[in-house]
Amino acid sequence: HNHIDHATPEKVQTAIAAGDTHAHIPDYQDLNAYLKTGGYSALIDLRANGNWEDVQDKVLASGLRGLGGAGFPSGRKWGFVRANPGPRYLAVNGDEGEPGTFKDRFYLERIPHLFLEGMLIAAWAVEAKTCFIYMRDEYPAVLAILRREIAALEAAGMVAPGYIDLRRGAGAYICGEESAMIESIEGKRGIPRHRPPYVAQVGLFDRPTLVHNIETLHWITRICREGPEVLNTVERNGRKGLRSYSVSGRVANPGVYLLPAGSTITDIIAAAGGMAEGHGFKAYQPGGPSSGILPASMDDVPLDFDTLQPHGSFIGSAAVVVLSDTDRVRDAALNMLRFFEDESCGQCTPCRVGCEKAVKLMQAERWNKPLLEDVCQAMADASICGLGQAAPNPIRLTMKHFPDEV
Ligand code: NAI
Ligand code: SF4
Repeated sequence: HNHIDHATPEKVQTAIAAGDTHAHIPDYQDLNAYLKTGGYSALIDLRANGNWEDVQDKVLASGLRGLGGAGFPSGRKWGFVRANPGPRYLAVNGDEGEPGTFKDRFYLERIPHLFLEGMLIAAWAVEAKTCFIYMRDEYPAVLAILRREIAALEAAGMVAPGYIDLRRGAGAYICGEESAMIESIEGKRGIPRHRPPYVAQVGLFDRPTLVHNIETLHWITRICREGPEVLNTVERNGRKGLRSYSVSGRVANPGVYLLPAGSTITDIIAAAGGMAEGHGFKAYQPGGPSSGILPASMDDVPLDFDTLQPHGSFIGSAAVVVLSDTDRVRDAALNMLRFFEDESCGQCTPCRVGCEKAVKLMQAERWNKPLLEDVCQAMADASICGLGQAAPNPIRLTMKHFPDEV
């Protein structure tokens, strides 16, 4: 993406010397630079004489919701986890597998300590015994940065050696599902568990586990430093807060844009410099493939949690992909279902077989709509996890909004 630095021979040599053999490390704010800006003062104060419930109140007042994509109120999770006796764990979901999502990478390659401090604050709040970070292996620079900065925190005596345990994912989309991630950290094959029990009760090694996304923790630090107002005073179209939209596709300047949570696709395309030259706006994916594709005529809907449900979609991790009049929506939808077919863990039949059948049906010149709708219904009703439950969205929304194409 356009904001990432390019490697120079000197930088690559520095990276190799530091043991990062395959990563180009962009310039980022390291521990010393972060400390100079008042970094870690919130954590140090809390550890000295803080009350976790006061912090929870601030987080609740801010309206912060889980930014992995589900939007569960972040502060409430702390109460669920603390309601169970220790030992407790914190597991950070850094798998960022949703196609089109790159906001966590964006922040980690620039200001990693805002996340690390937030993680340690959350760990303090639930008295976590260990923090596991499950990091996407396709982000070598992020892994190198985290290794260095965790070592720096240990050297500075801010965490005990081994308190932060950095784990690498192995490229499976399903391992971003929180219970599959937990199975993977435990060393097993990553397949989702049935819920309930929720991981807040029975999580890592069967212990109560707090799971947060990278960006959620980044905001915990900002709320502690700047107060709940950092989020709850921002308002647009009746929605409060801020969203980091990962914007790609046919726009002039793809990238991460931090905008009010009530932004519409019109606002987002404008922030990304308008449409790319020669492209007319036709359709958009609002939040990853599982959110499906919406028509350009729906350009006045605020793209926030809860606002897209009545339209059969959701904002999820705010992975916005813009399509133009040079694209066919049916091709994009087929691509999405191929992705789900590849990434289905295969443990339940509606998803494993449903994705495969849907891909075959979607390759026909004219879609068999009643049959596809039957497949969609079975998947949505009977799949164990969100992958199979949401995979019908691109099919249904394409049939609804782009009937001429199918
Ligand atoms: P969910 O709504 O079922 O759960 C969200 C979180 O709240 C989980 O941590 C869950 O344990 C917790 N929770 C919910 N109800 C609870 C209760 N009663 N008690 C205690 N804890 C409770 O959603 P899910 O399936 O975890 O996430 C789906 C979302 O993930 C989708 O919206 C999708 O956008 C997003 N996603 C994001 C990806 C990324 O790369 N960032 C990749 C794939 C999906
Ligand atoms: Fe696995 Fe799909 Fe079932 Fe989820 S819905 S558990 S990915 S087979």
